[in-house]
Amino acid sequence: MDPRTSVIGKRLEGVKRIIAVSGGKGGVGKSVTSSLLSLALSRCGKRVGLLDLDLSSPSDHIILGIKGLYPEEENGIIPPEFHGVRFMSVTLFAKDEPTPLRGDDITNAIRELLCITRWENLDFLIIDMPPGMGDELFETIELLKRCETILVTIPSRVAFETVKKLSLVLREMRSPIIGVIENMKREENDFIQRRCKEINLNYLGSIRFDEKLEDAIGDVEKIMETKVYRDVLRIAEILKEEQKG
Ligand SMILES: Nc1ncnc2c1ncn2[C@@H]1O[C@H](COP(=O)(O)OP(=O)(O)OP(=O)(O)O)[C@@H](O)[C@H]1O
Ligand SMILES: [Mg+2]
Repeated sequence: MDPRTSVIGKRLEGVKRIIAVSGGKGGVGKSVTSSLLSLALSRCGKRVGLLDLDLSSPSDHIILGIKGLYPEEENGIIPPEFHGVRFMSVTLFAKDEPTPLRGDDITNAIRELLCITRWENLDFLIIDMPPGMGDELFETIELLKRCETILVTIPSRVAFETVKKLSLVLREMRSPIIGVIENMKREENDFIQRRCKEINLNYLGSIRFDEKLEDAIGDVEKIMETKVYRDVLRIAEILKEEQKG
């Protein structure tokens, strides 16, 4: 028995909802969604934490432009705050050095991060997952039994197939799925919406493709002017309302 598992439970006692942002396929916008959703929920007056669990390619700090923040140590690690969002990532420790990890190293790094981080009281802890159905996702779901998942896809049959497979695995594990976000939408087409309905997945909404996002990366003020942020804000409103009910 790993003593860290009981510590992890205590560390997350004050967190109302834990939401993993996953989706299976790479590059569909999990990190953009996680980062902007955290920002949007915080702007809606919620207490939010953002945990980047992409241990080998963390990106949330690049998307939000988080630089020069250092975690403070006091009976654990206090996650630094950025635009109202408490942030934790391996990048706070490894800086820009590569962090190649495999097998048990991944499991240990996740346990360590969950064990040392003092999230305190949060309405939402958003966890950005790496692509694939790997240790990061399954370890998190097993450690944090009440973790719910948002699945991100793009308007593509190929990407949706992976979402479907992941949803089957999550259901098998009896892990709750909040719903699907369709990112990078370019034209009106209800293909993903229909596919979600067929397999009984909740369609949370879409996020438009916005070519202005690239220029806004690393600059919160500019990000907030994009269509991407406006669409994420609508999804944040849904999650905020869900919490009330
Ligand atoms: N709605 C959008 N409009 C325009 N560009 C977008 C949109 N969503 C994501 N992108 C861009 O697509 C790229 C991939 O996004 P992101 O890194 O969030 O994907 P990911 O699913 O986290 O990738 P990975 O699987 O590698 O973790 C980034 O360059 C990001 O800026
Ligand atoms: Mg990512």
